[in-house]
Amino acid sequence: FQLDKIRNFSIVAHIDHGKSTLADRLLEFTGTIQRGLNQPQYLDKLQVERQRGITVKAQTTSMIYKQSNQSHQNIDNQDNPAFLLNLIDTPGHVDFSYEVSRSLAACQGVLLVVDATQGIQAQTVANFYLASECNLAIIPVINKIDLPTADPDNVKEQLASIFDLDLSEAILTSAKTGEGLEKVLEAIVERIPPPCGKTDSPLRMLLFDSFFHEYKKVICYVAVVDGVLRKGDRIVSAATGKGYEVSDVGIMHPEFKPTACLLTGQVGYVVCGMYSTQEARVGDTLYKRQSTIEPLPGFQPAKHMVFSGLYPADGTGMSELEHAIEKLTCNDPSVCVEIESSAALGRGFRCGFLGLLHMDVFHQRLQQEYGVHVHNTIPTVPYMFEFEDGSKVEMHMCTDRYKDKKLKAIWEPMVIAKIILPSEYVGPVITLCFEREGEQLQFSFITSKQALLRYRLPLREIVVDFYDVLKTITSGYAIFMYEEAEHQLSDLIKLDAFLNNQKVDVLATIVHKSRAQTVGDSMLEMLKKYINRSQDNSIQILEAITGRVVSTQRVPAAPLERKGVKKQLRQIRSVNIPREAFLERMKLS
Ligand code: GTP
Repeated sequence: FQLDKIRNFSIVAHIDHGKSTLADRLLEFTGTIQRGLNQPQYLDKLQVERQRGITVKAQTTSMIYKQSNQSHQNIDNQDNPAFLLNLIDTPGHVDFSYEVSRSLAACQGVLLVVDATQGIQAQTVANFYLASECNLAIIPVINKIDLPTADPDNVKEQLASIFDLDLSEAILTSAKTGEGLEKVLEAIVERIPPPCGKTDSPLRMLLFDSFFHEYKKVICYVAVVDGVLRKGDRIVSAATGKGYEVSDVGIMHPEFKPTACLLTGQVGYVVCGMYSTQEARVGDTLYKRQSTIEPLPGFQPAKHMVFSGLYPADGTGMSELEHAIEKLTCNDPSVCVEIESSAALGRGFRCGFLGLLHMDVFHQRLQQEYGVHVHNTIPTVPYMFEFEDGSKVEMHMCTDRYKDKKLKAIWEPMVIAKIILPSEYVGPVITLCFEREGEQLQFSFITSKQALLRYRLPLREIVVDFYDVLKTITSGYAIFMYEEAEHQLSDLIKLDAFLNNQKVDVLATIVHKSRAQTVGDSMLEMLKKYINRSQDNSIQILEAITGRVVSTQRVPAAPLERKGVKKQLRQIRSVNIPREAFLERMKLS
């Protein structure tokens, strides 16, 4: 394919607005997959995606399109040349915007899909800004027009007022009935520019995603920016300087289809003997050995917002869990992992996630795809601990690693939140932000009906249920985005829980001073519910900096279950508190 016959694009949308369905229909329309023979939602491959109806892993597929009504597999007709359309499917949830930005860097345009019954939502806005920051062509697609409640005119007005888009640019579709599909394909060809690489320059390709395959090992998704990549080429990573030999190269059409080479502007896969996705650094530039190139601009690294400890449970061994986590992170390098050990739970892993949904999905995949059982600890955000000696350490857990140092103060991560909402909901949302310790930075009207609020808020208030509450009090109309801000010195204290004078470090938590008593009491009540009652127990909740006792109680043994001390110790080692309880408690903190 000539460069001017290639289009690289993504579909971006708010969750459930229909991008996977639309992608499937485009694959069918171009004859890439066959109607009816494929499973519903071809691109949502993972089991967890099907169950939750969300796309987790971005998938890349190529299709061949001819500007006529028929099937488009014949690519030789000169009068009606075919186009190679490379589609990169992206996840739709705020937690996964990192994956969205990765895939966008390999594109020149996006389809911005908006549900005609729902209108513009949080992720529509976030994706619009991501795409415009990358200077991509944006094609608005108003989907689900077959539904009786569809109101495409209203959505057009929103597109014009919020994004300043031309009303005539929007394409109306039904991914269900197939209406409007050809217009979408036409728009991709007409409105998205071809990639602008140099065919005769030395090879430069952007590694924008990677995938772990049982046999082929790491499969890299790449966009060839300049030059040509051939099987057998010796390539080098600009990030690590490590060299590799290309053993397989091709396009996804719809599955792995080996080709002799990948030309300038093409998107495809490369197998080159990488063993872990740690090696496949997203945003890296791969180039040919012995050539001199300027590396491509990299990507924003994933920012971990939520951390949680994972410990083996119920017959799962540490090495089994390690294997499962290793495999899973091969496919999801945006999770960070380090080994941790806890006096109460033994050895486990501390993982960092992009958000709560990301964390949930990771846990679910561990169980479903690898059959391991885990205890997960209270999700935390990365705090900055300041010690008496003036040193500061960022910590996302209450560890005893610095127990020789005296804690002086706790700084917490803050975010700058932007909320766009219909003006009638401004009152309740200001109250919510006030309750969540928000500081108002801006209150203005972007249109006569839409207001913009900007707040500085503690991240700990966002990660649990802020978004859910916001949605509820605005009947789902609020659009919410946030970016990280600097840490702030806060009135926070650390609470430690002691079970029979043994510190249960996984239960330690950071709370606002004003809520120490409530949280301490509820922690104690919760422990009472979950501890083994085979002997007398004592529970104490202490404030770490001052040593002040917040709550204390003796819990007598349940009479008929008196057992040995050994058994009791084992029980302490497996203090298992369901995630619901942690979340419930975290809401108090
Ligand atoms: P995530 O991958 O979770 O971000 O969602 P998505 O945007 O990919 O949405 P998906 O394609 O999974 O569609 C969500 C739901 O809307 C599914 O039940 C689809 O069958 C349905 N749907 C998608 N497009 C249409 C449409 O044009 N009309 C109707 N009636 N339903 C549609």
